[in-house]
Amino acid sequence: MIRGLPATRNVYRTLTNTSRVLNVEKSNVNNNVSIPSVSTTHFGSKTVPTAEKSKMVGHVFSSVASKYDIMNDIMSLGIHRLWKSHFINKLDPGKRPNSMEPLNFIDVAGGSGDIAFGILDYAKAKHGDAVSTMDVVDINPEMLKEGEKRALDMGRYFKDPRVRYIIQNAEVLDKIEDNSKDVYTVSFGIRNFTDIQAGLNTAYRVLKPGGIFYCLEFSQINNQVMDLLYQQWAKVLPVFGSIVANDYDSYQYLVESIERFPNQEKFKSMIEKAGFQSAGYESLTSGICAIHWGIKA
Ligand SMILES: C[S@@+](CC[C@H](N)C(=O)[O-])C[C@H]1O[C@@H](n2cnc3c(N)ncnc32)[C@H](O)[C@@H]1O
Repeated sequence: MIRGLPATRNVYRTLTNTSRVLNVEKSNVNNNVSIPSVSTTHFGSKTVPTAEKSKMVGHVFSSVASKYDIMNDIMSLGIHRLWKSHFINKLDPGKRPNSMEPLNFIDVAGGSGDIAFGILDYAKAKHGDAVSTMDVVDINPEMLKEGEKRALDMGRYFKDPRVRYIIQNAEVLDKIEDNSKDVYTVSFGIRNFTDIQAGLNTAYRVLKPGGIFYCLEFSQINNQVMDLLYQQWAKVLPVFGSIVANDYDSYQYLVESIERFPNQEKFKSMIEKAGFQSAGYESLTSGICAIHWGIKA
C-alpha cells in the first residue's frame, strides 16, 4: 500500500485480504524522610509536571481550533497541503476490488479532518471504495468539532455511518479494540503526545497483524540553507499567531514542540521499539517534515 516500500506479505495481506496522573514518585531522603517528587516532561522549551502537559496542549489547540486551517496555511506557506497530499498518495489507501471486506482506518489527532477526509476521498476516487470505515480521534473536543463542521460544509462524512468522531487520548485509545484497524494515520499530532512511546505502543495494539502505522510529522532539516531560512521563519511565526489568532504563546509552543521532536533515525527506532517491522521514512522538503511507517508483524 505504501509506494516505494517492498511489497511484504503483510502489506499485501492488508491491501487485499483485509477482508476481514499525577505521577508522584516517592524518593527517600536521609533514609527516614520521604518527600514526593513530581515527574516532569517538556512543553515546548519549558519543563512541566507530566500530568499537566495534556491539559496545556489541550489549551493550545482549544485556542487555535477556530483559526487552525488558516494558520496552517500561513505557517507553512500552504505547503502543508502538498505534504498531506503526497502522504495520502504514497499510502494509496482503499479497498481493492478483489477484496471482500472494507478496510478500517483510524486517523489519530485527526483535528480538522484533513487526513481522514482525504483518505476517504482518495479511496473512493482511486479504488471505488465507498465502504471502508474511518475513526477520527482527537483528545480535543473543539478540534474534533472543527472536523465535523468541515464535514457538514463539504456535504460528506457528517452523520455518515462509516465515520465516527471519537474524543480519546491517543496514548490510551481505550474505546478502540485490539487488532481492529488496518491503517493507523497520525499527521502533525504525535509530537504533542505526553508520552510518544506510549502512543506508538497503542498504535501497535489497535492495528491488525499486517496493519500499517503511517505518520507525518515535523523532523530534522538536512540542508544548511533551508535550516537557516527555517530558523528565521520560526522566529516570526508566533508574531503571525498573535496577529491572526491573537495568540502568541500557543504558536510559540508549536515552534518549540517542533524543535524538540526526535529526528528521523531516532523516531524510526521508537517505531521499531513499539514492535513494528519494515520501519522506514521519507524526508520531505529537506527534512522539514517526514513520513514514517511501520508494519505490525
Ligand atoms: C497540529 S494538529 C494536527 C491536526 C491534523 N491531524 C492535521 O494534520 O492538520 C494536532 C492535533 O493533535 C491533537 N492531540 C494532541 N495530543 C493528543 C493526544 N494525546 N491524543 C489525541 N490527540 C492529540 C490536538 O488536539 C490537535 O488536534
